[in-house]
Amino acid sequence: MKNVFGFWRKKGNGSVSVSVPDSDNIPKHVAIIMDGNGRWARKLGLPRIVGHRNGMKAVKRATIAADELGISVLTLYAFSTENWKRPKDEVDFLMSLPQEFLALELEELIQKNVQVRMMGHTEELPEHTISAMEEAIERTKNNTGLILNFALNYGSHREITECVKELARDVKDGKIQPEEITQDMIGSGLLTGGLPDPDLLIRTGGELRLSNFMLWQTAYSELWFTDLYWPEFGREQLFAAVTEYQRRTRRYGGLS
Ligand code: IPE
Ligand code: IPE
Ligand code: MG
Repeated sequence: MKNVFGFWRKKGNGSVSVSVPDSDNIPKHVAIIMDGNGRWARKLGLPRIVGHRNGMKAVKRATIAADELGISVLTLYAFSTENWKRPKDEVDFLMSLPQEFLALELEELIQKNVQVRMMGHTEELPEHTISAMEEAIERTKNNTGLILNFALNYGSHREITECVKELARDVKDGKIQPEEITQDMIGSGLLTGGLPDPDLLIRTGGELRLSNFMLWQTAYSELWFTDLYWPEFGREQLFAAVTEYQRRTRRYGGLS
């Protein structure tokens, strides 16, 4: 049954119909903090890495659903600059996932015209992780569909610090004057340079924080949180988040 807003609601028999977002107001850029893999596994009495492996299936579901909705950019927070603090076994496993994911999915991503990108600090990443990502980036670089942007060894504080260093170098070299630094120069000096800011930021796993993710870029993003763990995420949740996004009034500090 449709409600007054035109969203599908729970049917009388208890089964849930998926909210179908309005195709005229699809967010261009959706960013997701994919959290809760470990807790999902623990709930089932399984090792954390099983949670990460099942998280990969949710990545596939989210990608297909984002493509179906006509979202332009899907950024997925896969590994933060702080996640190196975890036990080595877990870090090693996480670093092997891009390879595993792409071995399974790259052909289909190519077929679906998806363009794979990566944003993060590559210096610390193992060679096998980088080469798997580079192959995917290279083989999809001319694709014109959904941009699937993996945030891997990404952290906003470091991203902003590196941008500031670069601008300081430009000042030192006499290329610009300090007064000439603009917000746009900072925005384009970040790892997202060239991409629109996220319209919608989703975090699974129940935590209500950003964990060093896109702090500059999310200044006016709409936020959507769910207690579901990342391996439980799929089309229904993405559609629900986008439907909720479409109910929001974005004022950017002005009046509606
Ligand atoms: C998200 O799940 C994946 C990464 C941060 C790499 P977690 O591994 O953080 O799972 P929880 O939050 O411990 O449940
Ligand atoms: C955020 O999750 C990072 C990723 C999803 C990659 P964390 O699990 O690392 O965040 P905290 O530690 O709960 O803030
Ligand atoms: Mg977590």
